[in-house]
Amino acid sequence: MRKKIVAGNWKMNKTLEEANILATEVKGMVADEVKGNVEVILCVPFPYLAQLTKLIGTGTRISVAAQNCSQHESGAYTGEVSASMLTSVGVKSVILGHSERRQYFGEDGQLLAKKIDIAQKHGLTPIFCCGEPLEVRESNGHEDLVKRQVEEALFHLSAAQLQKLVIAYEPVWAIGTGKTASAQQAQDMHAVIRKHLASKYSQAVADEITILYGGSVTAANAKELFACPDVDGGLVGGASLKSRDFTEIVKSI
Ligand code: 13P
Repeated sequence: MRKKIVAGNWKMNKTLEEANILATEVKGMVADEVKGNVEVILCVPFPYLAQLTKLIGTGTRISVAAQNCSQHESGAYTGEVSASMLTSVGVKSVILGHSERRQYFGEDGQLLAKKIDIAQKHGLTPIFCCGEPLEVRESNGHEDLVKRQVEEALFHLSAAQLQKLVIAYEPVWAIGTGKTASAQQAQDMHAVIRKHLASKYSQAVADEITILYGGSVTAANAKELFACPDVDGGLVGGASLKSRDFTEIVKSI
């Protein structure tokens, strides 16, 4: 049975003090909710990773993730953070290819394939994001674009490597807009992604891949979204910044 995950993407929010408070609250509130095959991941800003991995500790189904990493091993790349730096502070996973990175930092499929490789080489689980902008959805090109994003970044992987990552479908028009994809729209795209994986690998491999939905997930809509057969949890932005809201979403899985 594939894993179910609720991940909170804090993006560029919170001071260290606020981050400590939020992580402590979340740990306390969701501890009893994360059982069976459910995991909770907090994707926090780089400066807080070392401290929050310690705060969360081991032996829990809650973990801490980064929001990006470099495609390079090490060296003269001022301002960058490498995969080995992340693992050295206890990080287990990393978001790659978030639409904000694609949009504001020019990240494309070719670069993301490299980032996926280096993350996996160091034992990190990539949380690979894909999703279409509004104009592409409106011109009915969303399925083709998302399939292409998946191909460009992932189709060079072996089946064994593919099974060691998580995919997040995040329609750009639903991110931070309060506009959520309907459960049907989410389910349809998740099924398209899974079918595409099955066509390249196998149905058995595709059936093992956790596919999260992201884009204005809230306590009010999480249940309906998570009830879809191909939606295996969520990547939550704004609503992950409040412990109560995030806990309600975790309870919906
Ligand atoms: P919102 O939940 O704020 O729309 O953000 C979604 C997102 O980008 C998660 O990575």
